[in-house]
Amino acid sequence: MAHLLSTSCSLKLITSSKFDLRHMSQSSTFYPTSLTLQTSTFPSKRSRQRGLTVFATALSPSQGIQSQSSSGFDHKDTEPSRLKRVMIIGGDGYCGWATALHLSKQNYEVAIVDNLVRRLFDHQLGLDSLTPISSIHNRVRRWKSLTGKTIELYIGDICDFEFLSETFKSFEPDSVVHFGEQRSAPYSMIDRTRAVFTQHNNVIGTLNVLFAIKEYREDCHLVKLGTMGEYGTPNIDIEEGYITINHNGRTDTLPYPKQGSSFYHLSKVHDSNNIAFTCKAWGIRATDLNQGVVYGVTTDETEMHEDLCNRFDYDGVFGTALNRFCVQAAVGHPLTVYGKGGQTRGYLDIRDTVQCVELAIANPAQPGEFRVFNQFTEQFSVNELASLVTKVGKKLGLDVKTISVPNPRVEAEEHYYNAKHTKLVELGLKPHLLSDSLLDSVLNNAIRFKDRVDTKQIMPSVSWKKIGAKPKTVSAYPNN
Ligand SMILES: NC(=O)c1ccc[n+]([C@@H]2O[C@H](COP(=O)([O-])OP(=O)(O)OC[C@H]3O[C@@H](n4cnc5c(N)ncnc54)[C@H](O)[C@@H]3O)[C@@H](O)[C@H]2O)c1
Repeated sequence: MAHLLSTSCSLKLITSSKFDLRHMSQSSTFYPTSLTLQTSTFPSKRSRQRGLTVFATALSPSQGIQSQSSSGFDHKDTEPSRLKRVMIIGGDGYCGWATALHLSKQNYEVAIVDNLVRRLFDHQLGLDSLTPISSIHNRVRRWKSLTGKTIELYIGDICDFEFLSETFKSFEPDSVVHFGEQRSAPYSMIDRTRAVFTQHNNVIGTLNVLFAIKEYREDCHLVKLGTMGEYGTPNIDIEEGYITINHNGRTDTLPYPKQGSSFYHLSKVHDSNNIAFTCKAWGIRATDLNQGVVYGVTTDETEMHEDLCNRFDYDGVFGTALNRFCVQAAVGHPLTVYGKGGQTRGYLDIRDTVQCVELAIANPAQPGEFRVFNQFTEQFSVNELASLVTKVGKKLGLDVKTISVPNPRVEAEEHYYNAKHTKLVELGLKPHLLSDSLLDSVLNNAIRFKDRVDTKQIMPSVSWKKIGAKPKTVSAYPNN
């Protein structure tokens, strides 16, 4: 049964059904623990929902008809009689929340699907976002009160196919943006349970989305978040998804080789293969956004009210390089460069994440097409990031030091890296590059919330080589 929660409803059917985050019918014992939530359930027929809840206080369809969004992107496939309906799986997370607000602001009809498991990881591991974040219910209520726009909410696990089917039948998406995965490489390397959970959650969740599209919305465009980490660090240029190879006198264009470097990255590689296969076999239309490392916290929409504030992870499990360095600089902790610091990756501002997703939706893949975009705007090595943060930190009066810590990962610390990233720019991406002033604002944000920093979360706690079968269930702090 779908669990639809809405802030605009006056006639919701409240049930006290308990929803268990342990995977339901499709899965068995993979998840390390469970959480029960009170849910409100709605009839699943779209027509009844319109009457009862969603459109009662939202824009009327005629107000919303558009061929061009306010950001100027052309919505080529917009049906004349209704808005584009976008389902955002993982919409309570870092990238998903910012994207949900952005698309809602652009007059898409948005539904968030999320099982809130990311919040549970924090509880389990004793971690917290630097920024205080509101519950998802308060978030969508606040958005409604500020803008008049409704974001529908479906709380549940996409590994539960019955739940996912009901959300598809109920919301009838034109596009599905799939952020809803366990997305931390260190989390997937904590212990066997987390490795199994990550691969099960990500691969089965995506497989269920593919089956739901085939079964209920065959024209729906899947926009799936992959990662640049799928490619690894080959000693040749990285192309956007495909490479043309001459071999023994013959030529073919083949999927670019993938070399995931954690159980998380390998789950994404498997997702990509499953999506490519179903595009070929069933005619699914899909865009794989191989995203680089995201930094920053504010977007135009999240800045509107403190209840809309996005999460900002700085700990050794979920924090990403630049965000972590900014927090470390703010609290006077030395910047933690892993090993030699020559590890080079693609990076992008969270404002560009939301822009890229909108571009992908507005320019959908063709039926049967598996399209791959490399979604990042600039490349940096870890040492370059540390230098930038040191320079800008000094201007703000911070005494920033850097240390090299033993690398907990198994990865090349000095290597060639040159990844193509032109396709989104060709579609109209206007990047926010990492200027001093931008870094300044990320650092200032870290300074603003520095009293919330738990410095014990900063050092890396998960070792690629020491992962074992024994469960580590209590804490992700070092030495546990
Ligand atoms: N943050 C980055 O720097 C980055 C970089 C590259 C790629 N990505 C990709 O972007 C996507 C989003 O990343 P993020 O940083 O926003 O992650 P996040 O952990 O903040 O958000 C993921 C959301 O998905 C939800 N979720 C997870 N499994 C689910 C399930 N089975 N059913 C329903 N909901 C589920 C979580 O509760 C969470 O709210 C991920 O797929 C990630 O691999 C992120």
